[in-house]
Formats: sequence, structure tokens, C-alpha cells
Amino acid sequence: MGILLLSILALPPLVFPIYSWYVLKYGGGREPFDIPLTGFFHLLVEDFDIIFKDREGVDKWTREFYDNANTNRALEGKRVLLTGSNKGFGSGIAGHLYASGATLYLPCRRCNQTELRRLVRSNALSYCEFYVSSNNKRDKCLKMVGPEEETATRLETFDMDLSDLDSIDNFTQALKARMATPGMFQTGYHQFDAFISNAALISAGGIEITKQGFEAMFAVNFVGAARLLDFLIENGLLKKGESQIISITSQDHRLSLPIEEHLKAHGVTFGAPFGRGISDAMPRYDYSKLVLTTYIMGLGMQDYAGDYAFLDICPGPIASEIASNTPWPLNVIVPAGMRVVFPSPMVASIPILRMVADGEAFGVKPGRPSARHFQLTREASPRKDALDPRLQRMVIDQTKLLLKTRKAPEGKVTGM
Ligand SMILES: NC(=O)c1ccc[n+]([C@@H]2O[C@H](COP(=O)([O-])OP(=O)(O)OC[C@H]3O[C@@H](n4cnc5c(N)ncnc54)[C@H](OP(=O)(O)O)[C@@H]3O)[C@@H](O)[C@H]2O)c1
Repeated sequence: MGILLLSILALPPLVFPIYSWYVLKYGGGREPFDIPLTGFFHLLVEDFDIIFKDREGVDKWTREFYDNANTNRALEGKRVLLTGSNKGFGSGIAGHLYASGATLYLPCRRCNQTELRRLVRSNALSYCEFYVSSNNKRDKCLKMVGPEEETATRLETFDMDLSDLDSIDNFTQALKARMATPGMFQTGYHQFDAFISNAALISAGGIEITKQGFEAMFAVNFVGAARLLDFLIENGLLKKGESQIISITSQDHRLSLPIEEHLKAHGVTFGAPFGRGISDAMPRYDYSKLVLTTYIMGLGMQDYAGDYAFLDICPGPIASEIASNTPWPLNVIVPAGMRVVFPSPMVASIPILRMVADGEAFGVKPGRPSARHFQLTREASPRKDALDPRLQRMVIDQTKLLLKTRKAPEGKVTGM
């Protein structure tokens, strides 16, 4: 027992010098994420650094925000379209936004409106009770969140499966029809203040191909998100000079091979499915996020500069359900471990609440870049490929083509 304890204690002093030597030897001038083997460690260290350093400031901001919002619902009248709200990070975002008075439009697959209304309201109440600092918390929060009947006028769900372009089209048609009828959408208010593109998938049980021929993670994490954003912009559903487009990416985008190297290595064209199966599930997830970040940064820096605030954010690790699509027993062990180590959706989603609530700092402003990348609350540079105007152009143009043809090019998938 003593020897075991000693070995455990001796591990960090032994590992860190070896790790530092390795980084110095192989790192020379490259992005830390590009160094073989070390990228993942670097990612973890950076994530935890951000979580712990930011924690105090974020906590203070949130308490002040809730205390003020208590007397004056800070997001009253704001309309937010959010994907992936029925669990994980998205359910945290929805809870905070609802507690602050926002009206929510929640497209999701397989979701039940009554259940989602109950979930979001109950999250809103518990978040409010956690952060409001007065003694008679319950009464204040009940008043702030509002009566249960109010969910019918402040929260609406729509069916939409992001892996299927037809389903996204059905949703956009339903949204248009809904706008034409009185109720939550009233004349003159046919626009969203914020679109939060959050839904994503890690499909690690093998390669899934979608109805339009895309690899599932690329379809949900990128193609579907791009199609939805395209629809909102093309139909004038976002307010020019005001609305925020908040795209949830991942630090993992830094671990991906550069986009063109990826395509070359697999011998495919942009949009084509590729991969071997479970062994390269994470590189495919990382790649989908790198493409997404490049697209969002590109739209903000090139096509819609000055029109909307494009906020691309790595939320850091979250105790969510994202690992539940891995094979057994990983689908049990990993989510359980995440629940112990990572911040809850309630805590992790505060930077998003802050973005929606603080238009001064995160909105469209003359002279401010339209495309900004964040690691939690800190503004940072994304992986450098995502800032390369040539790559941004390639991704935007190729995506336009994919959305027009609605079909993935022929791919190379070996093993499912
Ligand atoms: N968890 C982390 O540590 C972490 C770290 C960095 C970034 N992120 C990012 O955070 C965001 C939220 O992920 P999460 O961790 O909260 O994962 P999660 O718990 O698995 O939630 C993902 C959400 O996306 C939805 N979704 C998945 N496939 C969909 C589809 N085909 N159509 C419509 N909705 C679909 C899910 O709905 P269903 O119930 O229908 O599946 C769910 O609501 C993602 O963009 C993820 O990449 C997470």
C-alpha cells in the first residue's frame, strides 16, 4: 500500500520533466497542438487553467446579473433560437436564458414540448435560486421566472433533425408558417436577437452515413448548422447590425489536421465522408469543428463583416451527455467521469448567458471585428487555419455548393 502511494506521489515530478523535454525537443516554433502526442495534454492543461482562473470572476458576474435581473428581467423581449436544448450544455443555456426573461425557440429532434418546457423552467428556477443572493430566494425566483402558464408564450419547440437537410427544411417551413400566425411571433418581431448553434454529436460507435450521404458528425456539427444559419440570414430573420450568431465549437478543433491535409490524407474532396470507424472517430469530430470554426470566422470576416456579431466559442469541458454514443462500457464510464470532473451545464453555460446579455461587450459595434473567437470568457485566437482568408473562402464556397447540390461527394469509408 505504502509503495503504491509513493509511486503515485512520484508520478507528477517524473512525468512533468519528461513532458517538458518532449515539448522543447519537438515543439520548435509549432503550435503546441501540432506537436505529436502533446496536443491532448496541452488541451487539458489549457481547459483547466481557463476553468479555474475564470471561475471567480464568472461567479461574481453571475450573482450580480441575477440580483439585478431579479427586479428587471434582463432579457425580457429577446428572442433566441437555440439548438440542442434538451440536454447537456444546451439545457443549461436554455435554463439561464429563460430565467432572465428571454423567449426561446427550440428546434430539436424527438423532443416533447411539454417535457422540454418543464425541464427548462425547472432549470431556470434552480439556477435562479442558486445565484440570487437574497434570503427569500424562492419567492423572488418564482416571480422572476414567472408562472408555469408563461412557458406557453415564452418557449416553443419544433421538430428538427440536423443530420437531415429535408428535416431542416421542414423546420424552416414550420418556422415561416408559425411567423405568419399571431402569438409568440407578432408583426414586426419576425427576427431573432440571437441564434445559438449548439447541437453536436460525437458518433464513436462506427461510421454513420446520413440520408444525403454525409458522415454523421460532419452532417450534424457542420452541414446542418451551416444550412440553418444560411436560412436565417437569407430570410432576414436576424437583425442586421444587432443580432448575435453564437456558434459552439470545441477546443478540439485545434487537434485536427489542417483541412486540406485531412482531405489529401484521405484522398477525398470537401464534404465527402471518410474514415475507418471507431479508431478515427475523434479526429473526425475535431475536423468537423475545425471546418465549423473556419466557416463562422470566414462569414464574419468576409461575407457579413459588420452585419452580425459572429461569436465562435470553445466552452471548455462540460459534464454533458456527449460521450453517451461511445461503445459500452465507455458510454457508462466516460459520462460518469465527466460528471465528477467537469463543470455542470449550469456553470459551463454562463459565458453564453453573458454574451447574450451584454450587447455592449459582445454585440455588433463599428470598428469591432465581426468574427471573434473565445475560450470560455477569454477572447483568443482560433487555430490559425481558421483565420486564413484563402481557407475560409474555400470552406464557404464549397459549403454553398454542398447546400445547393444537397448531396455529399463520393467518399472513402473503410470499415463501419
Ligand atoms: N461536453 C464537452 O465537454 C464539450 C466540450 C467542448 C465543446 N462541446 C460542445 O458543446 C456543444 C453541446 O454539446 P454537449 O456536450 O452538451 O453534448 P450533449 O449532451 O450530447 O448534447 C448535444 C445536443 O445536440 C443534440 N443533437 C445531436 N444530434 C442532433 C441532431 N441530429 N439533430 C438535432 N439535435 C441533435 C442533442 O439532441 P438529442 O437528444 O436528440 O441527441 C443534444 O440536445 C456541442 O457543440 C459540443 O461540441 C462540448
